[in-house]
Amino acid sequence: MFKFNFDVEDDGEQSMVSLDGNCTAQNHRPASAQAVVPDAFTELSLADALDSLPSKISYSPITIPLANGGNLSLPRRDLFDARFQLISHNADDLDPSEQPSNAHAQSALQFLNAPSDLVPLVYEGGLKTWECSLDLAGYLDSIGSQFDVRGKRVLEVGCGTSIPSLYILHRIFSSPPSQNQTHIHFQDYNASVLELMTIPNVILTWYLSGAAETYRMSEEEPPDSTALELNISENLRDAFQRSLMTYGVHLRFFSGSWDTFDLQKSGGRYNLVLTSETIYRMESIPSLIAMIRGACSAKDLTDIDSYLCLVAAKVLYFGVGGGVAEFVRCVRDQDEGGTVETVWERTSGVERRVMSVRWK
Ligand SMILES: C[S@@+](CC[C@H](N)C(=O)[O-])C[C@H]1O[C@@H](n2cnc3c(N)ncnc32)[C@H](O)[C@@H]1O
Repeated sequence: MFKFNFDVEDDGEQSMVSLDGNCTAQNHRPASAQAVVPDAFTELSLADALDSLPSKISYSPITIPLANGGNLSLPRRDLFDARFQLISHNADDLDPSEQPSNAHAQSALQFLNAPSDLVPLVYEGGLKTWECSLDLAGYLDSIGSQFDVRGKRVLEVGCGTSIPSLYILHRIFSSPPSQNQTHIHFQDYNASVLELMTIPNVILTWYLSGAAETYRMSEEEPPDSTALELNISENLRDAFQRSLMTYGVHLRFFSGSWDTFDLQKSGGRYNLVLTSETIYRMESIPSLIAMIRGACSAKDLTDIDSYLCLVAAKVLYFGVGGGVAEFVRCVRDQDEGGTVETVWERTSGVERRVMSVRWK
């Protein structure tokens, strides 16, 4: 188990390993990971995930620094609350030999207790918010007027708590409804991350936005505004689903390894592909690049300006081998390789970048 140790809450000391090898997924996979069968592409139903939420969830604000010097606060479900959901839902039947889903719940519980620990192709860190996701949301804010997401297809790859997509949703739900149909898709290795963190965060973002104002005023038992809790009721689920229709927002959630992502089932290529803190491990960089490349540029793509692919990352991931240099080299060295341009950077402390990737 590797302790990643530098997410938003925990910015620790790091050490460096060298970068070498070529850019094929198989050649980069270490012997230990070869034995692991990666989780396959699976779609999680939003309706099922909504139904499995407890009657109340708690959250805390997370602050996104903006380029104009201001801040934006978005809600994020508390980890302890997700842990409580798992414990209370599974307290009666936690024997993993009886049901595979129990084993799944037990392993999710294990990682909720140690959310910074990465276990390759088992749990990849999505329960916590990593710093570069805030950089990416801040960058999206800075280009807001140049790139209107409404009417577009958006994919966040390795979304975890999905701060960049929450920013996009916040923007949509804070504007008047539009006729354009916007598709926002979330991908994470772990279905439990989507269920326990991503989807609750989406609902919280909606609930605190202008789009939910009528619902908030209609609540029979409004939550104590100082408690930072949200009552999950049938009415809330209905109002949320109605708002999605009003705003023309279509949400889908996919789990599984990048190698297995099924672009055909997800509906084809995207106009905006986002990912943050996903290039930390050399052996998974080639499959990430193959996936985002496919997601950005289908064979029939004729308009080169019709997509934007943004990758936010630390320059070096000490101890795991990935980082910007390895990523750029792999993008460039592929057949008909692409180009990487740094569009935002932080050069003090732990260096971080937001990069725009394009393919020929
Ligand atoms: C360190 S977390 C970052 C989460 C989030 N993007 C953030 O910045 O807060 C890395 C994410 O990459 C995804 N991931 C890592 N390796 C993966 C793989 N081989 N296949 C699919 N997803 C993977 C996991 O889903 C995980 O959420």
